[in-house]
Amino acid sequence: MNKPKRYTITSALPYTNGPIHIGHLAGVYVPADIYARYLRLTGNDVVFIGGSDEHGVPITIKAKNEGVSPQDVVDKYHAIIKKSFEEFGISFDNYSRTSAKVHHETASGFFKTLYDKGCFVEEVTAQLYDEKANQFLADRFVTGTCPKCGNEEAYGDQCEKCGTSLNATDLINPKSALTGNVPTLKKTKHWFLPLEKYEDFLKEWILEGHKKDWKPNVYGQVKSWIDDGLRPRAVTRDLDWGIPVPVPGGEGKVLYVWFDAPIGYISSTKEWAEKKGIDWEPYWKSDDTKLVHFIGKDNIVFHCIIFPAMLKAEGSYILPENVPANEFLNLEGNKLSTSKNWAVWLPEYLKDFPGQQDVLRYALTANAPETKDNDFTWKDFQARNNNELVAIFGNFINRVVVLTQKYYNGIVPEPHEFSVIDEETLAAVKAYPEVISSSIERYRFREAQQELMNLARLGNKYLADEEPWKVIKVDEARTQTIMFVALQIASALATLSEPFLPFTSEKLKNILGLHHNEERSDTLIPSIEKITQKNKSCNEAVSWESISTKNILISAGHKIGAPELLFSKIEDETIQFQLNKLEASKKANEAANKTMEPQKETIAFDDFTKLDMRVGTIIEAEKMPKAKKLLVLKVDTGIDIRTIVSGIAESFTPEEVIGKRVTVLVNLAPRELRGVESQGMILMTETAEGKLVFINPDDPKVANGLPIS
Ligand code: MF3
Ligand code: ZN
Repeated sequence: MNKPKRYTITSALPYTNGPIHIGHLAGVYVPADIYARYLRLTGNDVVFIGGSDEHGVPITIKAKNEGVSPQDVVDKYHAIIKKSFEEFGISFDNYSRTSAKVHHETASGFFKTLYDKGCFVEEVTAQLYDEKANQFLADRFVTGTCPKCGNEEAYGDQCEKCGTSLNATDLINPKSALTGNVPTLKKTKHWFLPLEKYEDFLKEWILEGHKKDWKPNVYGQVKSWIDDGLRPRAVTRDLDWGIPVPVPGGEGKVLYVWFDAPIGYISSTKEWAEKKGIDWEPYWKSDDTKLVHFIGKDNIVFHCIIFPAMLKAEGSYILPENVPANEFLNLEGNKLSTSKNWAVWLPEYLKDFPGQQDVLRYALTANAPETKDNDFTWKDFQARNNNELVAIFGNFINRVVVLTQKYYNGIVPEPHEFSVIDEETLAAVKAYPEVISSSIERYRFREAQQELMNLARLGNKYLADEEPWKVIKVDEARTQTIMFVALQIASALATLSEPFLPFTSEKLKNILGLHHNEERSDTLIPSIEKITQKNKSCNEAVSWESISTKNILISAGHKIGAPELLFSKIEDETIQFQLNKLEASKKANEAANKTMEPQKETIAFDDFTKLDMRVGTIIEAEKMPKAKKLLVLKVDTGIDIRTIVSGIAESFTPEEVIGKRVTVLVNLAPRELRGVESQGMILMTETAEGKLVFINPDDPKVANGLPIS
């Protein structure tokens, strides 16, 4: 075992402009949580930091769209996000927010220190300005073409496609996100961090120092930016939402959100230490602390270049030991998107799958975008649950517990002589902590979780080979030994599963009557508290380390509890329900994106009055023989009963239209269709899904702008 260390683990502070979705979870919070839980379990001093990123343009834009204040937006989403993380079992030691007083003070103080040390360059430059909105355009207020990769939707501070960090004036064809206007240039003063001065430091620290231990995707991105040459970066903005610039001439300006947000990690640590009555500084300023940032790939430049340059400039802070950024997770083949509602939202998941947090954690880790973008599908989610969690892990535990109850009233039996297979099996169990640790410590969480499942597989295979349910009829002593061995495997699983499947681990420890992490069990797993109370007879503890060192994890004579299902099968209907939800947002997007036909040429009033339109009723309808699209209708126009041939057979059956009240253009010149004379036209429109409908503007499928013909 490694010597215990002090760890500061941070996870990207989410923007409070919407709830958390599976992309955030897979990329950042689930891996960070596995890492933090694992390090605590193995006896390290850990602080796991989270919080809301409440400044920045995304918040202002959301507020504007919803017609509320930015403060309303952040209050709303901070509460939603915080609650859903808690319910999902993300074990933050502290979850703060950047609107907190401690953060304003810390960020402001940090800026002031760099200012006093002369780390900034103060400069008046021409910046993009929206004359209509009377506002400078930076960051997400402006979009345009990325000069590096040609992405037409790059933002003023970053291109999300290629990850490059940009200055707004770098954009080709910039456009205001507020008004759509082409911006003009206007002079304004800002403070710049001259990143080029940190090039040598960054080269030595990352390019030479972390070539081996940083993930290739992270290292590669950083190298390409440094190779391209770094430039001064403005760290202030002309906005009214944010932390005021605390130096002379800073009136009306705020800190750039990417200057203040990472300092949020420090303020959140301070807030935590204060509550605990301990000193925060060792967690940020002591060389024997390991600082690790969990982020998604779009955050790499900020955490590997800009924030380290800030820390370096300040001078008293440590630098990250690693930044294990993940790639992106897609959903059913398409990019996750908040604005297009193409996502699985955490609060909705928690509502639709109560008590099944571990299933999502498991599926996301099994598919984690660790080395490349990956796809989440509901079918895969179902298969992971049914074929792995239920069929392997759950099945093994259930057999062990049910048989122990049945044969021995729940008392762990005394083993007799171990066979070679028993010895080998017990030796194999002892190897798992090391194997799983090694994967976790290299940030390979998928691999680590696969190893955990291999241990459950080992248990299943052991039972299938040894067949205690048959042996019991002929050899009681041997059966006792088999069940004893199986119970050791189950006990090892209870502890080793904790980082990945915390709710399951807790349940399992309770079933087996094993001690759990008492100090924190209340905060980590809120809903399990009751069970903890129930099982007061816990008398054994299985630590991570003891699995490798001890021969017996759960001893003969110990009483275990009643069987309880750890996982249950997820049915096709449940999955279909989720797929239908996604289908609905796809439809809504298609309708919204369908390009409007431009307005036709203006007509004179006289032209309009020439049209004779009457209300009518369809009284007969039949299919036109050998014509897929046509129905032959008899329509009562009030003037007469006439024949109209209408191209609606793909949208309606004849039965459906009989009796329908319709609008008829009666003075259209008759024309012959397949030998039948059509004497008018019924007015229709076509919905986004391509279905023809009669004119009824109150029909929700009939959107504004649909042409009538
Ligand atoms: N809010 C940012 C995002 O969602 C992440 C901020 S991370 C921090 O992309 F370091 F700035 F806090
Ligand atoms: Zn780009």
